[in-house]
Amino acid sequence: MAMRIRWSKIAVFALCTAPFAWIVWRAFAQQLGADPVNEITHFTGDWTIRFLLITLAITPVRRLTRQYQLIQFRRMVGLFAFFYGCLHFLTWVVLDKVLALQALGDLHFGSLMQQMGLDIAKRRYITVGMIGLGLMVPLAITSTRGWIRRLGKRWQKLHRLIYFSAIAGVIHYFWLVKADTSLPRLYALIVAGLLGIRIVYWVQQRNRKQRASAPAAGAA
Ligand code: HEM
Repeated sequence: MAMRIRWSKIAVFALCTAPFAWIVWRAFAQQLGADPVNEITHFTGDWTIRFLLITLAITPVRRLTRQYQLIQFRRMVGLFAFFYGCLHFLTWVVLDKVLALQALGDLHFGSLMQQMGLDIAKRRYITVGMIGLGLMVPLAITSTRGWIRRLGKRWQKLHRLIYFSAIAGVIHYFWLVKADTSLPRLYALIVAGLLGIRIVYWVQQRNRKQRASAPAAGAA
């Protein structure tokens, strides 16, 4: 059993790195089209939101299918959402801001911070994107066994932040698309569905607890 879990973890890891390998290969093969920066930004943004949604889907899917071992992959998939989010952010910093400042001959720490700050303050989709990524930071930091043990019940509460991160990601997408909103709408629907399922589970659990404590209270 332990061996099977180890192999499936290796397989899931390989699957999660496949988009990264694909974009690196395309970059080396010069297959990124006329605007490589734009292509990399969109590609990494797409995979950030996809991995966020997959992470959110793991709990409902494992309950519905009774495949409880799926929990083994949640941390890894969540960390990959953060990984692609960081690549997405770094693409914006390095390939967008750094290269533009370099072309102007004005690249230094202060000018970079200023340009980034201006963009974050001026463009609302960047502001909300930063919030989405920022919310993933404490989740990534506390994803280790040590933090899970140290935080106890608070760990689960903290990790509900992933919903806010996904919501911020969807808003970010809505605000940046110019015409066709079909994909952000689809993602919004998926997040709403996954959140809805969580609420149903939460209500069911609360009712079960109340029912379990009712006879005890009656007996007393
Ligand atoms: C939760 C975090 C984030 C998610 C889920 C996310 C997701 C996305 C998605 C899905 C796209 C569109 C991809 C497409 O059209 O195919 C996108 C585009 C983009 N994102 Fe993000 N993003 C996040 C955070 C950020 C951050 C922190 C920044 C920069 C500070 C950023 C900058 C951009 C830019 C510049 C674009 C392209 C906009 C354009 O087309 O003009 N994103 N992102």
